[in-house]
Amino acid sequence: MPNKITLIPGDGIGPEVIYATKDIIDKSGADIDWEILNAGMCVMDEYKTPLPDEVIDSIKKNKVALKGPITTPVGSGFRSVNVGLRQKLNLYANIRPIKSYEGIDTLHKNVDFVIVRENTEGLYIGIEHKVGDEACESIKIITKKASDRIVKFAFELAKKENRKKVTATHKANIMKLSDGLFLKCAKDIAKDYDIEFEDVIVDAMSMKLVMNPQNYDVVVAPNLYGDILSDMSSGLIGGLGMAPGANIGEDIAVFEPVHGSAPDIAGKNLANPISCILTGVMMLKYIGENEAALKVESALEKVFKQKDKLTKDLGGPLGTKEFAQAVIENM
Ligand code: NAI
Ligand code: MG
Repeated sequence: MPNKITLIPGDGIGPEVIYATKDIIDKSGADIDWEILNAGMCVMDEYKTPLPDEVIDSIKKNKVALKGPITTPVGSGFRSVNVGLRQKLNLYANIRPIKSYEGIDTLHKNVDFVIVRENTEGLYIGIEHKVGDEACESIKIITKKASDRIVKFAFELAKKENRKKVTATHKANIMKLSDGLFLKCAKDIAKDYDIEFEDVIVDAMSMKLVMNPQNYDVVVAPNLYGDILSDMSSGLIGGLGMAPGANIGEDIAVFEPVHGSAPDIAGKNLANPISCILTGVMMLKYIGENEAALKVESALEKVFKQKDKLTKDLGGPLGTKEFAQAVIENM
């Protein structure tokens, strides 16, 4: 039986990187039956909502989705579909591997850590209101349940991938109650594991990650810090075009690159599809298509070593489509 997977192309560069990835996966030998549905700005006119029920239903049925980025207008406009999807499907863990590859010009060599971001609460619950005309309040929620769950996830991932250390990052010195609770949960859960544990305040963590990223293995963070640290960390390994991601829940997983819809380069065949292809590799491993995953990964590694086979953001001459073709030729 083929794996049935929901494919959501998304907005901006989404369709370009998603179809490049689909072409590669289709040629990798993986047995996949795609169910293609769309969400985002691109369906607003037709459905009057950026997140049609049929998309949610398809993901709930298939349990696995590969999703392109979706535009969220800043300020007015609809709420983030991405945040909505994660909350609706209870995709509580956002996994963002940060790895440097030979052949890609990066700020640091030998970087290989994973950011595990809490995905359902914190400041991203989106409860905000005005206080009179000249002030606003945003509510931040931190619960023991979600904190325990995400820290456990980080330790289990460390165990599975044979990683040596878990670092919890927070701002408990200032947000003594909310981040204080997250930190207490992290310290308590750490006692159950025979894995090194430390905690670092998030501003210092940013500096340390930029200076010595090789010191980190698994970094677990509340929602906002995990979001910011993961975009920043992608800058250590070649930029947003290099960073894959996954949203994992109890029995549903939605795989999506870290980057957004990049309207500045959309529709120009300029998008780097590597983050999306690496996201596809994570998905293949998740569904047990390990052979196909290795095939795609090693083709990527071969292409990275050929300087004239990179996309423009990485200093090469290729467009999105030509890069995907190069990966297929090296498979
Ligand atoms: P962005 O990630 O779309 O772009 C930031 C910068 O990185 C831009 O200069 C862009 O050209 C570049 N970039 C991003 N991905 C690239 C790739 N694959 N190849 C080459 N260059 C790449 O972030 P931005 O501009 O803050 O957000 C644009 C839209 O995307 C917003 O509406 C935002 O809400 C949405 N977004 C959606 C996400 C999702 O669907 N998961 C995640 C992040 C942002
Ligand atoms: Mg982000």
